[in-house]
Parts: sequence; structure tokens; C-alpha cells
Amino acid sequence: MPKAVRRTFVLVTTPVALAALLGAAAPASTGSPGAGDPYFPLAGNGGYHVGHYDLTLRYDTGSGRLDGKAVLTARATERLTRFDLDFTGLTVTGLTVGKAKAGFRRSGQELVVTPQRALRKGERFTVTVTYQGKPAPVTDPDGSLDGWIATDDGAFVAGEPQGAMTWFPANNHPTDKSSYDFTITVPQGRTAVANGVLFSRRTVHGRTTFRWHQSEPMAAYLATATVGKFKVEQFTTGNGIRVYNAVDAREAAASAPVLKKLPSVLEWESKLFGPYPFRAAGSIVDHAHNVGYALETQSRPVYDRAPDLSTLVHENAHQWFGDSVSLTSWKDIWLNEGFATYTEWLYAEQHGGDSAQKTFDALYAKPASDGLWEFPPGNPGSGANIFGTPVYARGAMTLHALRTAVGDRAFFLILRAWASGHRYGHGTTAQFEHLAQRVSGKDLDGLFRTWLDTPGKPNRP
Ligand code: ARG
Ligand code: ZN
Repeated sequence: MPKAVRRTFVLVTTPVALAALLGAAAPASTGSPGAGDPYFPLAGNGGYHVGHYDLTLRYDTGSGRLDGKAVLTARATERLTRFDLDFTGLTVTGLTVGKAKAGFRRSGQELVVTPQRALRKGERFTVTVTYQGKPAPVTDPDGSLDGWIATDDGAFVAGEPQGAMTWFPANNHPTDKSSYDFTITVPQGRTAVANGVLFSRRTVHGRTTFRWHQSEPMAAYLATATVGKFKVEQFTTGNGIRVYNAVDAREAAASAPVLKKLPSVLEWESKLFGPYPFRAAGSIVDHAHNVGYALETQSRPVYDRAPDLSTLVHENAHQWFGDSVSLTSWKDIWLNEGFATYTEWLYAEQHGGDSAQKTFDALYAKPASDGLWEFPPGNPGSGANIFGTPVYARGAMTLHALRTAVGDRAFFLILRAWASGHRYGHGTTAQFEHLAQRVSGKDLDGLFRTWLDTPGKPNRP
């Protein structure tokens, strides 16, 4: 570089660029402790994307002890001298980045990792964490338990919204989706059920190892590794979907007639929403009544008891809405729960039950003082409200109002376009509104503002 040019450049440059130019270290880049979610500020992390999780777990159902090894394959989205994982409770016994030991410290739910040398922007790297201890669930802002929840014969494992970090180190926010391998060893006689397809099952010296593979991208909160004494049933549907049902014997009688309907429910949902997004399907029916909820764990929902048919319809609707099409922010939770609830209404309507209009009318009849109108579903206000009635019921009412405004043809086109256009990715409320306007050719801004954002009971549509 000619001397004159160089001098000019140095004169106009910033102190940081000047330091770089003079050969000093580039500024430290430390990722960020959260993905920027206003409801869960520490959930997820900035600075990298995890492409794959390889989790090897051994669970001793007697003592409740978990031994784990997690290998994350990730890519730096910026230069990183340090980065965070979400991990809480268990003891970390080793941590390497690539082949080299890395420094780490714990700070609340943040596992702060300092690799020996900085990662370049765009660099692919692996993080290997070994850990052990007795996992415990977290208590969510709404008071419910979430994560690794020990049961009398194993563990009920569900992670919405925060619990994944109680059993593996993760980039724990739905903005980051990854494929997964699970290798889970449990005492012989117990079954470990994770997501996706069962690759193998081997018993050696009184322990059985289950290997599961989830190939389609999955948010960490949808991972499971539920362990129990289960009756197992496996078959492949006419459409080639691999079904695996695991049922606690105490729930078997009540769940049998409902689980039998799974293939027809998936077929019905596929007609409405487009092809089922995953290679695998099924149900995990545990006996864990203290949990109080079911979760749409990807490819195979987990139920804390025998589900009724509506619940089965609901959790499987989430496979399209929530699992394949994921949130970018927990504030948009109505895109999951409103859609899954409206699917329940549609199922009833098309199977000899109440029409969706009738369900809507019955809810609309509730007085303005009812909890249904406590907050608008597009703006729950905090993480304590994301599973509140307005999200589910008024969220579904929003879709019904949309259907009424645009007609059935456009409405179902919108749902299919949403599922296919954002398949394996993400969607926001604004994008959904945009799509609905584009497909219907109608100005729907008033409708969405009224139903999603306006506090109190809306005026009749
Ligand atoms: N998404 C689940 C459902 O649709 C609810 C999960 C509730 N989780 C919780 N931590 N409260 O039924
Ligand atoms: Zn739901």
C-alpha cells in the first residue's frame, strides 16, 4: 500500500479499526447471554447456531442420577472469544471446544465457555460437555414444572418453555433449530423414548440402550427423553410414517381407544394443513398426574396421563404449528396455541360435534369480567401468561374471526400456505397477518388489531 494512502486511512479510521490495523487484538466478542426474547431474556444465546446435538445419557431410575455427554456441532455467526450455553443444575465434569479443553464458569442458567482461541465468524466447531447429577425441573413463571421431572418409574421430560437446560446444555430458544441424536441407557425393563425414529435397542448386562434420531430441525424445548415402564407398540402408516407409542400400564385402558385414532387424526390434519412434517409420529403416555399438562414434543407428544381425543388432536396439530413452524418470540405463542385449539374445534365440527361457530358463540357469551378477556392473545405481557386461557381460546377465536371474514376457501389456503411456506423454519404474527391479507385480498388489519391486541372483550365481529 503506498505510504500516502495508508496515512490517510489511518487518520480517518476509528480507534478500534486503528488497533486492528496496528496489529492489536480485535475487540472481544462474547456472544450474548440471551437470544433477545423479552419474556425469557436469558433463553438462548447469541453468536452461534447449533446444527446438531448428539446426546448420550445414562439414567439410573433408582437413584435419579443422570450421566450425560452432549456434543454440539455449531457455527459461529460472529467472532467469538467467549459464548454461553443454557444449562442449569447438573455438575459439569468436562468441557472441550474442538479437541481442546476450554474454560468455563457457571452463572445462573448460563454456562459461560471460553475457548482457548477465538472462533472465527463462520467457523464450524464442536462443544463437548460431560455432566452428572440429579436433574431437577425448573419452575416456570406460571408456577408449572418444566424439564426433567422424575416419576415413580423414570422421568417425564418436557421442556416448554425453559426446561431443556435441566438435562442438556443448549441454545435454549426456538429461534435455533437443530437435528438430534439420542443414545439413552436405562435399567433393563425401562424404556427411554426420545424424538424421531428408533435406530436400535440393545440390552447388555442389565441395561438397555435406546438410540433415537430426529432428522428434521427441532427447537430444544421440544426434545424429550422420557423414561418409564412402558408398553410399546410400533407400526408404519399407509403414508410411511413410523409410529411409536409408549404407554404406562396404568394409563393403558383409558388411552387405547384414543391412541387407536392417531393415524386417522394425522391423515385428517394432513388434508387440512398439508403433509405431516416428520418421518416419525406417536405418543408417550406417562403416569405423571402432578405435571398437569401434555406437550407437543416433536414427532411424538408426551402426555402426563391418558389423553382425551381433543388433546391428541391438539398436540398433533402442534406438529405443524409450533414444531415445524416455530416461534421467533414467546410473545407470539398464540401462533402455537390458538392454532392447536382451533384444530380441536375443527375436528369436532367435522366429526359430529359442535360447529366452530357454536364453540365461538359459547365463548363470546362470557361476560367482560371473565378471565378469557384478561389480556389480548397477541400481547400476553409476560412469560407468566403464555399458557393462559386468552392465548388458547381467544387465539382460536381470532382464527375463527379470520375464517368468517375471508371464507372457508381462503382460510384453509392460508393455513396450508403458512405450514408449507415456513416448514422447518419460523414464523411471526406479522408474517401471518401479511399472508392472510395476500391470500384473501382483504384488509384484515382491523380484525387482527381487535382480536390480537386490544385489551378487553372485543365488539362483535
Ligand atoms: N404447549 C402445551 C400444550 O399445548 C402446554 C405446555 C405447558 N407448559 C407449561 N410449562 N405450563 O398443551
Ligand atoms: Zn398446545
